Amino acid sequence: MLQAGFRRWARRGVRVPGDVLLASTRGRVLRELQERHRAEATRIGARLRAGEPAAREELASLATRALMELRRGVASANLLSRLFSTVDRRWLAPGAIELMDMPELDETRRTRIIEALDRWNVLSGSYDLFLDELRPLLRPDGPTRILDLASGHAGFALHLSRVARSEGLDLRVTATDRSATYLEVGRARAAAEGLCLELRVQDALDLSNLEPGEFDIITCTQALHHFPAGLVAVMFETAVRAAGRGVVFIDGSRSAMHAATMTAVGHLWFRQPDFTHDSVVSLRRFFYPEELELLAHLGDWGDGVEARWMPPNHCLLRLDRSR
Ligand SMILES: C[S@@+](CC[C@H](N)C(=O)[O-])C[C@H]1O[C@@H](n2cnc3c(N)ncnc32)[C@H](O)[C@@H]1O
Repeated sequence: MLQAGFRRWARRGVRVPGDVLLASTRGRVLRELQERHRAEATRIGARLRAGEPAAREELASLATRALMELRRGVASANLLSRLFSTVDRRWLAPGAIELMDMPELDETRRTRIIEALDRWNVLSGSYDLFLDELRPLLRPDGPTRILDLASGHAGFALHLSRVARSEGLDLRVTATDRSATYLEVGRARAAAEGLCLELRVQDALDLSNLEPGEFDIITCTQALHHFPAGLVAVMFETAVRAAGRGVVFIDGSRSAMHAATMTAVGHLWFRQPDFTHDSVVSLRRFFYPEELELLAHLGDWGDGVEARWMPPNHCLLRLDRSR
């Protein structure tokens, strides 16, 4: 009952008032920047597709520059924006490191953080919310092949496999990550639950090894903040070219208010300082929805990308090619 109530609240969500005020300013500045940079981004995207090695760096650097221009443009829009932007600059910490990502961290502690994160995602209904965004892209007429990038311990991929089994959905899910160690945790859980799930090591930034048409949908959940802004644009461009039906990228939204919520959840509910630490670091590294929108809208497919805030505290990027 507690979970159901929580999920109802989560589906409505509350966006921080400062974010709402700044969202329209960000939207206006980002449209100007798209106009300014799209032609160049499209040219670089074509070279990236042709396999030109320098193109990746060029796209990343253009996207990083555009994001900086967005942040500067918002900060100089009016007095209120300047005030919020000054606070936000202090809050933003793209270089902060989660304990989970420290190679020297004791494996027991890492596993406990991962398990708490997974329980939180199930409790808050996040995995179901992510799946809801995928449903319109599923094939009505046969198996839908889904490639999940930067899956970590495959929490979302396992959830997809569980739902596929319980609802009789025809999903073929492949969880990937650059870390074989994380994938082994997912493999063990899939085996323990008798779930059908493929797991493989894959660089999310280079999908040139995939067969054409190998996957219908490419997903990436809760991992974009692990990549420098420029590489998020590269990853989106790369996924769009490789996916047959569409791309769904979801990550958290930067928020001090949610950091307070997660501190309470981490300490009072899970009683886990490590989980609290990593949640707060993530909330300082996340992008705002309009920032991700800019990074995903630079390419020539940009206008087809749906980019928005997704309650309770996520950002969605979705390109649906199935229609
Ligand atoms: C927060 S974790 C995974 C989150 C997971 N998708 C979820 O929803 O719970 C971020 C993951 O990104 C992976 N990662 C970072 N850079 C990567 C890259 N270039 N290619 C593939 N995976 C990468 C890390 O190994 C880590 O497992």
